[in-house]
Formats: sequence, C-alpha cells, structure tokens
Amino acid sequence: MLFPIVLSGGAGTRLWPVSREVHPKPFMTLPDGQTLLHKTYRRALSLPGVQEVITVTNRDHYFRTKDEYMAVQSPLPASYLLEPQGRNTAPAIALAALYCQHHFGPQALMLVLPADHLITRHDAFVQAVQAATGLAQHGYLVTFGITPTAPETGYGYIQVGEPLGQGFAVRRFVEKPDAATAASYLASGGYCWNAGMFCFQAGVMLSALQTASPEVWAAASRCWEHTRAHLPPGPGMVELDAASFADMPDISIDYAVMEKAPQVAVLPCDLGWSDIGSWNALCQLVPPDDHGNRHIGDAVLVDSRDTFIQSEHHLVAAVGVHDLIIVDTADAVLVAHKDKTQDVRKVVQRLKQSG
Ligand code: GDD
Ligand code: MG
Repeated sequence: MLFPIVLSGGAGTRLWPVSREVHPKPFMTLPDGQTLLHKTYRRALSLPGVQEVITVTNRDHYFRTKDEYMAVQSPLPASYLLEPQGRNTAPAIALAALYCQHHFGPQALMLVLPADHLITRHDAFVQAVQAATGLAQHGYLVTFGITPTAPETGYGYIQVGEPLGQGFAVRRFVEKPDAATAASYLASGGYCWNAGMFCFQAGVMLSALQTASPEVWAAASRCWEHTRAHLPPGPGMVELDAASFADMPDISIDYAVMEKAPQVAVLPCDLGWSDIGSWNALCQLVPPDDHGNRHIGDAVLVDSRDTFIQSEHHLVAAVGVHDLIIVDTADAVLVAHKDKTQDVRKVVQRLKQSG
C-alpha cells in the first residue's frame, strides 16, 4: 500500500505575473490546457497499490484543489491537510507523516510528490517509484536523482555513494549550493540533482526528524495533538490546528532532514523531469516556429526570433526583437531577457517591499 503525499504550496515567484500567492504555480495551466496539480494527481493515481492520496495545501486552496481532483473522477479516497499558512516543506511532510502513522501505522509507505513538476516519461516514473518503495521498506529515506545538466543553484545536490539494492547510498546531500560549489560538483561528477520527490515509511521520517530537527518534530507533534481531536472519521478534510501550526519553524525538508540524516538513499532516474522553475523552462513546452518564436494566445511577431509571448487578454505584437520573454496578464506585463528569467523573483521582492 502506498500513500502519495501531494505538496501544493509556494507562490513560484519566478513565474510572476501568472503564478502568485492567490494563484500559485500548481494551478498554472500549461500549454496543453492542464494544470500542474491535475497532472500530479493523475500521476499519483496511476501508481500501483495506492490506497489514498493525501494533499497538503493552504486552506484557501481547498475548494480549488478539490475541483481539480473531482474532474479526474477517481474512486480512490482523497484527504486534505489544510495549513493556515505556508511554513515550507518540513512541517508539511512532518504532519503528513503523523497523519499516516495515526491512520495506517508507522510502516505506511509515503511518496512525496511536489505539485509543480512535470514528468514526461511515465513508465520510468512508475518503475522508479517501485524501486524506491523497496529501499524505503528497508528503512531508507529515498530521493530521486536527476542527471545534472548545468550548475543550477535552485536544486539540492546528491553525492552518490555505494550501491544499495536498486539504488545507492547518499554520501552527501547539499541543498542549494552557491554557483561556484555547484560548478565544482558538475566538474567532479558523481552528483545528481534532487528531484524533490521522496519515498519513506512514516515512522522512519518521524524518527529522522526527531534526531535531525527536534524543533520541527516537537512543533509538529504539538500541532498534531491539537489537530487529532477534530479528525474526520475517515478520509476527508483535516484543518491543521492554526495556533500551534503558527509556531512551526519555516524550513524545508532538505535542510531539516535530508542534509543531516544518515540513512538517505538515491535512485538515479531519467524521468523527463522538469520543475518548470522559470519562464525559460516553461516556454520550452511550446513548439517553436521556424524562427524559434513560441507563443500562447494572441501574438504577432515580425522580424523577431527566439522570443516567447504568452498573452491572456491582449493581442501582443513584437517587432525586431530577440531572446525575450513577454507575458501579458489582466493587470501586469512582464518583459524579460531569456537569460535573466531566474531574476523575475526580484520583481516580486521589489513589489513586496513597496507594499
Ligand atoms: N503544502 C505546502 N506547504 N507545500 C509547500 C510549501 C508549504 O509551505 N512550500 C513549498 N511547498 C511545495 C511546493 O508547491 C512544491 O510543490 C514543493 O513543495 C517543493 O517546494 P519548493 O519551494 O518548490 O522547493 P524548491 O524547488 O525550492 O526545492 C526543492 O525542490 C527541488 C527540485 O525542484 C528541494 O527539494 C530541492 O532539493 C530540489 O532540487
Ligand atoms: Mg520547486
């Protein structure tokens, strides 16, 4: 039995102005008309042995999430752990583990799936998960390793160690190294990117948390104690206790556990994986014309090349430009150079500063 845990939070600030706090990245519609959340849910349901899909998300996104899921019409039960605010992935995963342990016992196998990834090689995904569950049953915290192609600083880096079943032991896990360190990892070889999916037994994750990040473990345990008094009898909506949730440290599972725990394993895999972390990654999903231009919505490109236009509300015309990303929404327009799309998050920072 397997329990996919869909993590759906985070504003995805590099995809502004389409991804925002009220309309985060999992709800973004891709060029094929489906949202990332919809795809993630279907991916979860497609795995053998799934008993219940558990989604951890903000309480403001409950109805929208449920609507997305209803459209899929799965007979499998779905549960929702609703957060009063975002506290990053460690609290979300800790509470999902407490939920699974409570309902299904400490050996319940959990598979954490971020709701904002794209995986194009579905068969490889299913195989990788099957191999991961084998390692997880032996008490490992299993990560999924992607072959790195550039010294990206937005990913976790996994140094591959000794062979272990169908995977490898992890020698070192380094979350988001700086550019020089990432470049040195690429040059030395033997490193994977962390895909952000994890497979483990509920009880194993909880004891790893207790040792590696006792403050997260204690705060999550307190929150769970207050929450369990109001649990529905079966699968359904669980509102996490707001007062104790507010005391949770804001930290990701990568820093809280993966960098510190001794029993981390990695399963290198080729999943056609993308975390669609920027407009540059997203625009690759749209086929280019003969000049390398791509567009979604109404656009006219004259004497232009390698330019992406997404237009929701207006006809957008570009003349004599190249290597631009142009995104038009009802109330904001982004114009960025293709090489600078990681810096779109700075727009959001600036907007927050200016109130
Ligand atoms: N429920 C909930 N609550 N979900 C959250 C929260 C939260 O407070 N914060 C983030 N998430 C969700 C995001 O929506 C995403 O699906 C997933 O958890 C991962 O969070 P990100 O914020 O996107 O993490 P990241 O991209 O910076 O880094 C992680 O993913 C990389 C691969 O994409 C790390 O695991 C890296 O090591 C990894 O390389
Ligand atoms: Mg991410």
